[in-house]
Amino acid sequence: MTVESVKPDAPARASELREPPLAGGGVPLLGHGWKLVRDPLAFMSRLRDDGDVVRLKLGPKTVYAVTTPALTGALALSPDYKIDGPLWESLEGLLGKEGVATANGPTHRRQRRTIQPAFRLDAIPAYGPIMEEEAHALTERWKPGETIDCTSESFRVAVRIAARCLLRGEYMDERAERLCVALATVFRGMYQRMVIPLGPLYKLPLPANREFNRALADLHLLVDEIVAERRASGQKPDDLLTALLEAKDDNGDPIGEQEIHDQVVAILTPGSETVASTIMWLLQVLAEHPEHADKVRDEVESVTGGRPVAFEDVRGLTHTNNVVVEAMRLRPAVWILTRRAVTDTELGGYRIPAGADIIYSPYAIQRDPRSYADNLKFDPDRWLPERVKDVPKYAMSPFSVGNRKCPSDHFSMAQLSLITAAVATRYRFEQVAGSNDTTRVGITLRPHKLLLRPVPR
Ligand code: HEM
Repeated sequence: MTVESVKPDAPARASELREPPLAGGGVPLLGHGWKLVRDPLAFMSRLRDDGDVVRLKLGPKTVYAVTTPALTGALALSPDYKIDGPLWESLEGLLGKEGVATANGPTHRRQRRTIQPAFRLDAIPAYGPIMEEEAHALTERWKPGETIDCTSESFRVAVRIAARCLLRGEYMDERAERLCVALATVFRGMYQRMVIPLGPLYKLPLPANREFNRALADLHLLVDEIVAERRASGQKPDDLLTALLEAKDDNGDPIGEQEIHDQVVAILTPGSETVASTIMWLLQVLAEHPEHADKVRDEVESVTGGRPVAFEDVRGLTHTNNVVVEAMRLRPAVWILTRRAVTDTELGGYRIPAGADIIYSPYAIQRDPRSYADNLKFDPDRWLPERVKDVPKYAMSPFSVGNRKCPSDHFSMAQLSLITAAVATRYRFEQVAGSNDTTRVGITLRPHKLLLRPVPR
């Protein structure tokens, strides 16, 4: 290989790059913004008809959207892009500036090294007993004939599992309840503040603002309490909190109090809303597709012989796992991702200027008919080994890829499969009057108001 072959003549190459086409449907002044706000999922999905990379006008600002699996992979894997942009700035304002989800460069690498061991594949079995306990406790709370509010139930189990597994301690049981309430309110308000940035209006002493501020303050207070109590206990269990408390910066000095705090927030917040939303969709799928619910039950019984499903059973539950993956394909919790170009660069032969914001939608990618036959059909068998090879690379990346990939993919999949197995073995589900399982777009996608009646098997 010659030097020339790895360092092509930059100006000549730059001149070959094209400007991405402008997406259709923009209107004067607002550009595509109103469509993105009015029906974001349909809008993001239709962009594929305009090109592989397209330009959007959001008011005066140009934003680039990527619409093919290959280019979303290229974007996520390229060092030319970082986490930044309005979405992240508003997150930082509310949740803290020093957490792993918003850091870049060497700080981000160091923080990932600190948290990664808690999520490694070989660390997950230690969480098995808590995941099992929580999955079965969920089914025991439900009374036949009563109506389950799936939003609060899903949030509750997701927060309890994340908090009890990663920040271990007896006190977590009571704290997990408070965390549930605080996080649910904070997420609701955060999305509103991100898409409708009305600055000063959110400072007015209105009941909704007060409730949001109280919940946000309680979230930060809870995290301070958790950290202080762990320190006071003098205990150092082998968990994520210990790893954070013992972490050193690049100079070998202990990391600051603010970073410890922001790290706990940055792990608890994405860890609860995403899992909770996915559990809601799984309950919706079990109600909508009783044939798959029965198949899950049959599979679990054939593996367990009728005893309560255990963590160790999960890896033998192929169909259950495929139901989880297929639910995540059609209803990905994380439906939009953003990056910012750090340099003049290119994607798919198109010019991307330094500082440009780029967006893409896992929802649109995972429903693309060019990647999936019967793209809108709920078909867990498409994940069987003989069929999965037909799925193009990066067409199913609900946890993303590259250096920002979710650290919690194994942790999440284990609990989601276990919960699905536990609830489907015990109950069938029916939607009741007042239930609304249409998609609510927020920071994550979830059903508007899923109300189910559990019918014992
Ligand atoms: C990042 C999805 C559960 C912690 C991400 C990203 C995705 C994702 C797509 C990448 C964001 C980007 O590329 O900009 C999911 C899904 C989940 C899930 C679908 C469950 C169904 C969790 C859980 C935790 C967690 C349970 C922790 C307990 C994080 C953190 C990051 C992240 C800390 C930031 C990583 C970084 O920037 O280096 N998640 N996640 N996630 N997730 Fe998850």
